[in-house]
Order: sequence, then C-alpha cells, then structure tokens
Amino acid sequence: MRVGVLTGGGDCPGLNAVIRAVVRKGVQVFGFEFVGFRDGWRGPLEGDTVALDVQAVRGILPRGGTILGSSRTNPLKVEGGVERIKDNLAGLGVDALIAIGGEDTLGVARQLYDSGVNVIGVPKTIDNDLNATDYTFGFDTAVGIAMEAIDRLHTTAESHHRALICEVMGRHAGWIALHAGMAGGANVILIPEQPFDIDKVCAYVESRFKTRYAPIIVVAEGAHPLDGQMELQAGELDAFGHVRLGGIGERLANEIEKRTGKEARTTVLGHIQRGGTPTAFDRVLATRFGLQAIDAVADGDFGKMVALQGTGIVRVDLSAATEKLKTVPVERYTEAEVFFG
Ligand code: F6P
Repeated sequence: MRVGVLTGGGDCPGLNAVIRAVVRKGVQVFGFEFVGFRDGWRGPLEGDTVALDVQAVRGILPRGGTILGSSRTNPLKVEGGVERIKDNLAGLGVDALIAIGGEDTLGVARQLYDSGVNVIGVPKTIDNDLNATDYTFGFDTAVGIAMEAIDRLHTTAESHHRALICEVMGRHAGWIALHAGMAGGANVILIPEQPFDIDKVCAYVESRFKTRYAPIIVVAEGAHPLDGQMELQAGELDAFGHVRLGGIGERLANEIEKRTGKEARTTVLGHIQRGGTPTAFDRVLATRFGLQAIDAVADGDFGKMVALQGTGIVRVDLSAATEKLKTVPVERYTEAEVFFG
C-alpha cells in the first residue's frame, strides 16, 4: 500500500508529530510506503512530492510547523482540480491519502472521498473550532503562549496604570480567548460568538482602575461590538495622538481611552500563537491521531476523520466533522464572567 500525506491550511504545532506517528506505524507495523505532498492541496494538484520514510521523520516530534509545508490552495476552486488530483494520485500509485488540516482542508477531503478517493482526515487547528472532536492539537500550545503573554501584561499594566488588551487569534470562535483569558486571569474576555457592549467594557475598566490593579482585556480577532458601537476607522488618530491600525484590539484601546480618559495599549499576538514547539498535551494528541489515522487506512475505513471524544480516539464521518464550526456555547462564556470587573 502506498499512502500520501499532506498538511493543509494554517500551520499548527503538532503537525510533525502526526506525520511521524503515521509514517513510523505505517512502515513498522503495516509495511506501507509513503509519499509526502508539498504545501497542502497544491502538492497533489501539481504532483509535487517529497520522500517520506522513517529517516525523514526522525527528530521532528518537538518541531513546530510542518516538514511538508502548507498552503491554503483549494482544488475545488481550480477548474478540473479534483480530476487533476485523481490523475496525479493514480500516476504516483497512491492508494490512500491522509489529509491533515482544518475546516477547508477537510472539506476538500470530503469531496474527494465522495468522488472515489480513499481519504482519511486528521483535524488540526489552533482555534479548536472543528466539530466532532473535543480538542484539536495546537490549541493547548496556543493557549499556553497567550496565557504567558497575559501573565506578562499584568505586571506592566500595573506599573503604568494602563488598560492592556491582548488580541488573540480566532476569527469565528473564541476558544483561545476564553481559555487563555481564564488561565491568565483576564478581567474581560471578548469573543466572536457574543457581540460586546462597549459601555459595559468601559465600566469594567473603570471599576478595575478603582482597585490597585489595572484591567487586562483579552479579545479574539473576530470579536465585534454591538451594532452601531465603535465606528472608528483604521488609521484615525487616537486620544493620545497614536495612529490606530484598525484591528479590533487597537480599535478597543482607542475607544477605552476616549471614553475613560485612561491610557490603553494593545498587544497583537498573531502568528506567535502558531509557531514553535508543541506542548506535551499536543504532542500526545497529535501522535494518537496519527496512530488512529494509519489504523483506519489499514482497515480500509475511508471517508473518516479521527477525533478525540472524552479520552478516546475515535473515527467519525468526514461529513459530521465539516458540517458546522464548533463555537463557544454561551454557558462556557458566562462561566468566565464571574471574574470580570
Ligand atoms: O485558522 C487558524 C488561524 O490561525 C486563525 O485563527 C487566523 O485567523 C488565521 O489562521 C490566520 O491565517 P493566516 O496565517 O493565513 O494569516
């Protein structure tokens, strides 16, 4: 059996741990051969491959990123893309494909499976917003990085009596903001699922300044105010003469300064959350996903995504995994509210 492996979408700590587990078990237990595809779906689309054997996966467990490279190429948006992939897989003698990725990558995997390709999906995203799995690897690492940043912001916020805002990733789901905010003791957590009331946020900020501690706000990049609030445009000068760049963190800092008269600063963590070595939790989860994925290939159980449910690694239909995003339920969000103010 010849198995293709690819990593698609935004990278994420733990991708290499999956690849290593897949290849080692595949070679040592099942005697499979592997083909690595470069840069997500671009690889099979263009027939761009890289050698993938036990030697190639040596030493990669602690390394962030992906040895295969990644991209957001979507073959469904390329004319004849699916047929080209099928032809290339046939030409390379690839019998099965393991696609490691998020919603978009797995959506393509599902379509390919429907058109006859033997595909297994492995869920990946720091955002933790994939349906049908309790956690995705990369999330724990991202939360740890954001938590450390928030810990550090507390001390400088107190020294300078400033409101400090930490903007974290999460366009559609606020899992990183919620967990990092709780772990880091944030006073306000703002997530895309719950439009926020800027009046309430400023009231929290003011009440916090009445204590000897400064307010720390964690905001997901996709969070937004209630309709009609905060109309500030990118590039406008703030109350302290700074040019605001227009991300939600910067817009919030500007609004807080205008409304409360207190200084506010924003730290945008950005891709730092996706880089570097995975935590032990993510290495173990990624490894267990890889082992289950290659078992599914050996069983011929295609059209599945491996998933964490409770403490077990299970297989679910790719369709269940891609039908909707797993967003933060309101009761998880309100748990954190007790610490606000
Ligand atoms: O989906 C993962 C993610 O990290 C999001 O949280 C973020 O909005 C996006 O990727 C950033 O993508 P890019 O690296 O393409 O800027």
